[in-house]
Amino acid sequence: MKVIVLQASPNRDGLTAACAAAAVEGARAAGAEVEDVRINDLKIARCNCCGNGWGGCRINHECGGVQDDFQALHQKVNAADALVFVTPVYWGQPSEAAKAFMDRFRRCEATRGDESATAGKYVICVGAAGGSGNGTMTCLGEMERWCQHIRAERWDLIPITRRSRSYKVDTIRKAAEALVRENWK
Ligand SMILES: Cc1cc2nc3c(=O)[nH]c(=O)nc-3n(C[C@H](O)[C@H](O)[C@H](O)COP(=O)(O)O)c2cc1C
Repeated sequence: MKVIVLQASPNRDGLTAACAAAAVEGARAAGAEVEDVRINDLKIARCNCCGNGWGGCRINHECGGVQDDFQALHQKVNAADALVFVTPVYWGQPSEAAKAFMDRFRRCEATRGDESATAGKYVICVGAAGGSGNGTMTCLGEMERWCQHIRAERWDLIPITRRSRSYKVDTIRKAAEALVRENWK
């Protein structure tokens, strides 16, 4: 089973990184092949909203509007059996890096309906709020909506704040481990 872990913070040693490391550890403990991707190390521009706004991706289900690292990551996510997506909470939303990927991926895959590459695949979404904790749920709400658009199944939506860090990091490890153990094919 292939699991891809996406993390979308510029910090290499922050809360997001700790959550992603826990997910990698849990999925590997259950025997999965895991790839850990830092979206902030990639060049993923915002969606160009080509043409009249719908763009060629509505028909082609690939992004032809901006050539950058998105295309390779799109293929990697499509090839995975499950996804763990960890974002810091910025302004009560996923980070800008997370949103650029989410927007372009959604346009390519949501437009395939039930034929989406992520249809029926499990996703764990983590919203990591290191500040007040405000907006953790609105961030996860956006991620949940994204999962619905791309027809993915939500295995879990996990909020974590600096106060809950001591026990929630372990929850993320256990969630990833359970996802793999209970869905191993
Ligand atoms: C631009 C920006 C906006 C933020 N907005 C929020 C917020 O709405 N709620 C919150 O609890 N923390 C907020 N924070 C704090 C981040 O969630 C916190 O720094 C988090 O730990 C980031 O993850 P990291 O440790 O991986 O960098 C914000 C931080 C930045 C830089």
